[in-house]
Formats: sequence, structure tokens, C-alpha cells
Amino acid sequence: MPGLQNGPFWPVVSLASGERLRAPVAQVFNYGIASVERGSPPCYTMWAEHVDMALRIHGISYNETSIFWIPRRSLNVWSPVSWNLNELPGPFVAVGNTPLVPVDVDGVRIWLKLEGSNPSGSVKDRAAAAMIKEKIKCGELTPGRVLLDASSGNMASALSSYGRALGPDAHVVCNSTITADKRRMIEHFEATLIQNDYGPYTHDGYLKCLDLVRQSDNSYCFLDQLHNPMNPYAHETGTGPEILKDLPSVRLIVGSLGSGGTMLGIGRAVRSAGHPAMVAAVSSAPGNRMAGVGAFADGDYRTPFMIEAETNGLFTEAVLVTVASAQKWQREITARGLFCGAQTGAVLGAAMDLAKRHGLRDGIVIVSGDAGWKSWSS
Ligand SMILES: Cc1ncc(COP(=O)(O)O)c(C=O)c1O
Repeated sequence: MPGLQNGPFWPVVSLASGERLRAPVAQVFNYGIASVERGSPPCYTMWAEHVDMALRIHGISYNETSIFWIPRRSLNVWSPVSWNLNELPGPFVAVGNTPLVPVDVDGVRIWLKLEGSNPSGSVKDRAAAAMIKEKIKCGELTPGRVLLDASSGNMASALSSYGRALGPDAHVVCNSTITADKRRMIEHFEATLIQNDYGPYTHDGYLKCLDLVRQSDNSYCFLDQLHNPMNPYAHETGTGPEILKDLPSVRLIVGSLGSGGTMLGIGRAVRSAGHPAMVAAVSSAPGNRMAGVGAFADGDYRTPFMIEAETNGLFTEAVLVTVASAQKWQREITARGLFCGAQTGAVLGAAMDLAKRHGLRDGIVIVSGDAGWKSWSS
């Protein structure tokens, strides 16, 4: 078979994207992995012991001489049984430790925590990596299961790339408002985009995920970013401590609320360090909904993370922003040669207001949630 060599557990092949490897069923079993497709996706990728079950689910009969097509991505797996948490591939290595970059705006020095530098281009990489690792650790994510979550687009991009690096398929439930660029990224990493037809909010997508899990044959590993404690934990142990280390004199940290994981995690880190910095949470004014900046008066779901932050008084300030303000301040970022999304403009605008109110000229960090290319074409 051209290009096929015997690897220790799985065939090592070099194939261009889209090419398929043709293998007799005996080899499929020998190599321990197979992917069974009938018609359009979903495509189930699974291990030898599941092959027979998969074939039965698909109503495919086979014998020793049967031939199967193995999609390239099913050969791209990391380990035959589970994954070594200390040796996870690609994006798991590159996530976090993002740059903290100063810019001067109207005489105020603002430090941008550039989360767009994460491998899939947004702050959601941190939660994605942390949730996936925990699912592996507790045995809920095993080869053959499919990553699932609802997203406004950045978590979907992250799951697509992290799933691709690791092996499992990713199914992401997104609204029709997802940007073309994020959609392209999902396609690029061969994940499956499922239309959120339950309603306009990510919480509606969450309800759809619950139904998908109920209807599935236990194939889904649902990450549930809106409720998964690993989401804020990723920021409590990553984003927050990184800011305090890189700018110990920080006086104000400003970021937006999507799931609330980022700002809850940062708030916890600041308070547990006994640091006096103020923490400000930004959301959208009614009628001004933006990705990554929840509009709670319009019906966005208040997650347990936001309730915890409020109950424990972790946010010293709450600011509402408009789309017009976000666009204005995004242009200021662009004029300084940085390529950030509209959420960064929204957060910068809030930070400038707070700087004026508190008489600050330095020591302000804003969490820039994504890179400009995530919404390049919108
Ligand atoms: C660009 C951007 N910034 C910030 C956030 C907020 O992150 P979190 O969900 O942790 O509140 C999001 C979430 O979707 C986002 O897409």
C-alpha cells in the first residue's frame, strides 16, 4: 500500500488533505483504528474494539476481505488508548503566556493582554485546553468520542483545532451570526458546524447540546463551557497570574463577559493574591450585542460564573458599552498597528471611561479577547 508504514499502534501515512487510504478490514483491525462513513458527516472515528459496533450501527456488513476507506484525520491520532497529559500536541503547548503590550491612548498608558496570540486566535483557547485536559484526566474523553459545545464562534474555532490536534471529531453548535472567518476555521480543521436553531443565544445552543447528548449513543463528550468549572479555573491559574507577574503595579483590569469564565478567573486570582487592583466587567448596552460582550438586559444568560463573581464582590466595576464606541476605539487600536477584534474596542472604551473616572494614567490592563482576523470579513 503506497505511503503506508507500520507504526507501533497505527499506520503512519503521508497523504494530502482529502486523500483517503484504502485498507482491508483485517488491516483496520490490526492497526487498531478505523473510521466508518456513510454519506455525509457525522463520521465516527473509533478504535478496534468499537469497529464492529460502528459497522453494525451503520448497517454495514463485512467479512475478512471487505475494504474500507480510512479518512486521513483518523490516522492523525495521538495515542491508541488515551493521551499523555504531559505530552499533548500542537496548540496545547502554545496556549497561554500571551504578550502584554503597552499602547498610549489620549495620554493614558493601556496594557493589552493579547489573547489573539493564542493558537486558535482567542481567549477561548485557555478554557478549551483546560476543559479537554480535565475530560481526559477523568476518563470522559477517550478516542472515538466526539467533542461537543455551543459557542458564539471563538470556542468553536478552538475546539476545531484542539480536536484536530488530538484526534477526536468536534461538533460545534453555533448561531447563524457566526463570522465567515470563524466558519472557515471550523471547516479548515474538519470539524462539524451544527446550526443552533433553538434561539439566538449561546444558552439556546447549550440546550441543543443537551438534546444532542440525550439522542446520541454516548458518543459525545460535552464540554459545557457555560458551566464547566475548568473554564474560570484556566484564567484563575493562567491569565490572572500572568497579568500580576508581568505588571505587578496593575491598578485596573478590564475585560468583557461572555461566559464570564475569563473575568471570574482573573477576579479570583487578584483577590487570592491579596492584590488591590480593581477588576471591571464589560457587557453590551441593550440593543448593542457583540460577540464576547454579553447583552444581559436583552436576554443573554447569566452563568453561575457571573453569579459567583457578584456574590463574592469580585468585580469592582460594571460597564455597559455600545457598538459605536467599540468601533471607535477599535480604530485607535488599529492606528497603533495592532490587529484586534471589536471586543477589544469595546473593552478599551470602557477602560478609557474608568481611567478618567479614577484619574488613572497607567497601570490599566485590558483583556483583548481575539485577533482581528477572526472577524476580518464582517
Ligand atoms: C473575543 C472574546 N472576548 C472575550 C470573551 C469572553 O470570554 P468568557 O466567555 O470567558 O467570558 C469572548 C467569549 O466568547 C470572546 O469571544
